[in-house]
Amino acid sequence: MRTPLVAANWKMNKTQAEAREYCRRFRELVPRDFPVELVLFPPFTALAAVREELSGTAIRWGAQNVHPEPKGAFTGEVSLPMLLEHGVSYVIVGHSERRHIFGESDEFIARKTKAVLGAGLSPILCVGERLEERKAGKARKVVEEQLSAALGHLTPEEASRVVIAYEPVWAIGTGVPAHPEDAQEMANFIRGWLKERFGNVAEGIRIQYGGSVKPANAGDFLRLPDIDGALVGGASLDPDSFFSIAKEAVP
Ligand code: PGA
Repeated sequence: MRTPLVAANWKMNKTQAEAREYCRRFRELVPRDFPVELVLFPPFTALAAVREELSGTAIRWGAQNVHPEPKGAFTGEVSLPMLLEHGVSYVIVGHSERRHIFGESDEFIARKTKAVLGAGLSPILCVGERLEERKAGKARKVVEEQLSAALGHLTPEEASRVVIAYEPVWAIGTGVPAHPEDAQEMANFIRGWLKERFGNVAEGIRIQYGGSVKPANAGDFLRLPDIDGALVGGASLDPDSFFSIAKEAVP
């Protein structure tokens, strides 16, 4: 019922030339009727190149970040009208690197989420606890606070367009993924929260797992009942590796 969504978060990697080379190979790998939605998240500077290479395919692309204001004196930032020009479908908001390296607050992430929806796009909202929070038994509480800050004020229609990525901070880029049972438990908790808040639309909202997903472990996560895809960093930088992961999501 929920189409799986597997996304490649390239982070601060790939020049335009490298992005083109990747897309050309990836296009060859993905069959036309592939039953999994695939989205690439290049850096802003490679969006135009990715768009050129992927136009006319079923593969989509998105932005890793956005500023909530449409324009203004925000040096170094990129707005939604600028992204719309590049044909993006999704925008990642609240990634743990934005939260913890760049100090983005729940309030700022909520503004971004609302702005992305207002532009007719879908946010991938990242949530997840830090190691000390998990050890202290506070993982659910942290995730609930992040959900409630970013999504609490949305209408059910808006919520139906959101994708949630559960990414425990300690699993990102460390080579140590979560235990699949813990990922399922949290995804189920998230779905319960969504149901309480938005009713039936919760059944259609996709929840991804992210954090050290590799071809060898992807199947352990992608077959879990409440997990509908993956947000992949390091292992998405090679098109063959990323496609091996995506194949594990085929229902
Ligand atoms: P990773 O990153 O796959 O390299 O752990 C995941 C992410 O940050 O989305």
